[in-house]
Amino acid sequence: MGFFLHEIGQKPTLAILTVKDSKRVFRGNLDNFRDLIQTGEQFGVDVYIVTTKDFTLSSPEIYGYRFNDETKKWSRELVPAPQVVYNRIPYRKMEMKPEVQQTIQACNRSSSIQLFNPSFFNKWTLFGWLNSAKESKPYMPDTQQLNSANDLTQLLRKHAVLYLKPVKGKAGRGIMRIDRLTTANGRRNYRLSRQENKKMAYSYHNSTDELWNEWNKHRGTHDYIVQQGIALTRYKERAYDLRALVQKTSKGVWSVSGIGARVAGRASITTHVPRGGSIDEPRKLLTSAFGATEAKNILTRVRKAAVTLAAQIEKSSGNQLGEMSMDIGVDTAGHIWFFEANSKPMKFDEPKIRQKSLERIIRYSLYLINHGRRR
Ligand SMILES: Nc1ncnc2c1ncn2[C@@H]1O[C@H](COP(=O)(O)OP(=O)(O)O)[C@@H](O)[C@H]1O
Ligand SMILES: [Mg+2]
Repeated sequence: MGFFLHEIGQKPTLAILTVKDSKRVFRGNLDNFRDLIQTGEQFGVDVYIVTTKDFTLSSPEIYGYRFNDETKKWSRELVPAPQVVYNRIPYRKMEMKPEVQQTIQACNRSSSIQLFNPSFFNKWTLFGWLNSAKESKPYMPDTQQLNSANDLTQLLRKHAVLYLKPVKGKAGRGIMRIDRLTTANGRRNYRLSRQENKKMAYSYHNSTDELWNEWNKHRGTHDYIVQQGIALTRYKERAYDLRALVQKTSKGVWSVSGIGARVAGRASITTHVPRGGSIDEPRKLLTSAFGATEAKNILTRVRKAAVTLAAQIEKSSGNQLGEMSMDIGVDTAGHIWFFEANSKPMKFDEPKIRQKSLERIIRYSLYLINHGRRR
């Protein structure tokens, strides 16, 4: 039916899927949604918001939200059924609700709808996927599930720095770091660093049992991985890493839409902007560490790595994906490391990347309407 409507002059349709909200109409980054609607207009695509509550597969029209430019308000109205659904449900908990899962699974099975990005990723699952494929394995830091003090002992034998990360974490929340120190009398000593709100908190321990107990005090109910710490390259003594946005093109193939850099705040163990990090230019930072020629070479390798990693993630997940952001580290020797991928990328503040990201969502949706896989 989508095809038929298209033929008689109806615009292609793209629904941004999110969840209802008691206070604010619906959840998500509303500015982002408005930008997508506007970009859709430029490409002749009818873009609107649908909440999981309103979503149904069986009718030619459903309730969606459009933005009224005159009143500057969102209005709920009947819209034509979507041909493409772009999942932007912003929280894991909401995405896991049975009624939401039902909607997502129904879209996944539907032959008239193309759904992309059906779920969040989990850091341990990502590691399993990427470490078992030979194309992506070289980018993977040594990583284990954190299940016992022995996991710490094992990795501390091999690595002087470890990162402890919640498998479902984001924005640096819950991340801890262990540094193996050598004291004046030659005894083993460990420092555990935690981000506590805006500040860092440190504690010192003599054994991995003590480290384990300290971690237990702060982990809450969250599952963790423990990972080899990468000696990130620095700029003015601050560590930085790269954020690549990888998206499918109008031809349905993976491509890097842009790469940004995030420089860590002083003494911070992560590079997140809300934790004192700042945005900078990858080429400038890498040139200062490696020289212009090698910087260019590294960025070429990062692009290649990001595309390889995205393709492998999509393959292993068994789902149709259209975009992801990726946190990538470059160490002092110029080696490239994968930290994580996010299937609900945050808005990039770099204007060029931002513009490209919006266009690619629309162009990829058009690609899906014309060539998407059918089941
Ligand atoms: N193994 C590691 N070695 C060095 N730095 C790391 C490591 N893992 C994470 N980091 C730093 O912490 C940041 C956050 O880690 P990430 O895995 O992206 O978790 P989150 O989901 O909280 O963003 C990274 O961007 C990087 O700066
Ligand atoms: Mg991250």
